[in-house]
Amino acid sequence: MSHRESAVNPLRPAILAAAGSTRMKRAITGFPVTAEVVHRFVAGESRAELAPVVADLLGSGRSVSVDFLGEYTTERPMADDAVAEYLALMDELAQWNRWANGPSGWSVAPVEVSVKLSALGQALGPEGPDIAAANLRTLCARAEQAGVWITVDAEDHTTTATTEATVRNLRADHPWLAVATQTYLRDAERRCAAAAAEGARIRLCKGAYREPESVAYQRSAEVDESYLRCLELLMGGSGYPMVATHDPVMIAAADHMAGQNGRVPGDFEFQMLHGIRSIEQHRLVEAGHSVRVYVPYGTQWYGYLMRRLAERPANLGFFLRALTERR
Ligand code: FDA
Repeated sequence: MSHRESAVNPLRPAILAAAGSTRMKRAITGFPVTAEVVHRFVAGESRAELAPVVADLLGSGRSVSVDFLGEYTTERPMADDAVAEYLALMDELAQWNRWANGPSGWSVAPVEVSVKLSALGQALGPEGPDIAAANLRTLCARAEQAGVWITVDAEDHTTTATTEATVRNLRADHPWLAVATQTYLRDAERRCAAAAAEGARIRLCKGAYREPESVAYQRSAEVDESYLRCLELLMGGSGYPMVATHDPVMIAAADHMAGQNGRVPGDFEFQMLHGIRSIEQHRLVEAGHSVRVYVPYGTQWYGYLMRRLAERPANLGFFLRALTERR
């Protein structure tokens, strides 16, 4: 077991391994009570259930990034279905499209969608990356019409280079297109330096997958130090940093570095996950900051839920308690 795992959550490797187990998936998704637990982190299974959650978040002064849950698509029709759902989703989100001009010239979209290239077909054999890139291009064209932003999620490290190349190509036509960068990756700084120089929009997160020591820092202190170095680069650059973390130390550091670099709210934003640290989200809004909440919905919530459980032992306790209380 690595230091990072033992320092953060001793059960992390086992939970992340379970995230990839079909048998475990069947067992957990089959528990009737699971739905109640899932609701803490997931807005619902359909667009109809998502709508009031989005309306509530926007009404409270926060913006949103909506994720249609799905990953590791293994068949072409699944990728086609994901594209169709995202197109319909963006049409619905267009009703909330009220852009605001940020001080640095970024026109900020209050509604965004988050997309995993593996859901768009990236893993469909040798042609997968091209299929996913073509699907993302289709989504970008609709996003442009709907006035919605897109950020591409970062998945496991085997996909990072392809994902970044896809996003870089599409940015030529859609400069607002963003990608997430994980600071547990040893080369995160190089990526952030490039994004800062390009003036790109970029989401900075610590990283949620189980990665080998050869590519990723294993101790949480190293991941945090990497996060701070990346933040320095992004805040000092000409892009639009999206500070995706619930960690009070990172939030305070981002606020401080933004001030040092003459950035004001609207030049950067904080991001958190739906159902996590809502009080802090409100505090930041009241302090004048831009705050975006990542809101997942859909029936394919298993992998997402397992990553949230792996991040925090208390979440696992909450889950197990819900299971046993029902007996
Ligand atoms: P850390 O894990 O150190 O937690 C700091 C504090 O935050 C904890 O002490 C606790 O109070 C609270 N907290 C954190 N996680 C919690 C949880 N699950 N439940 C309850 N409280 C919790 N990852 C990735 O690999 N690819 C991606 O594309 C994204 N995208 C993304 C978007 C957004 C908007 C966010 C906020 C996060 C992601 N992530 C992600 C996930 C990210 O990499 C990371 O796993 C989590 O955000 C947890 O890390 P923190 O930075 O919050 O710090």
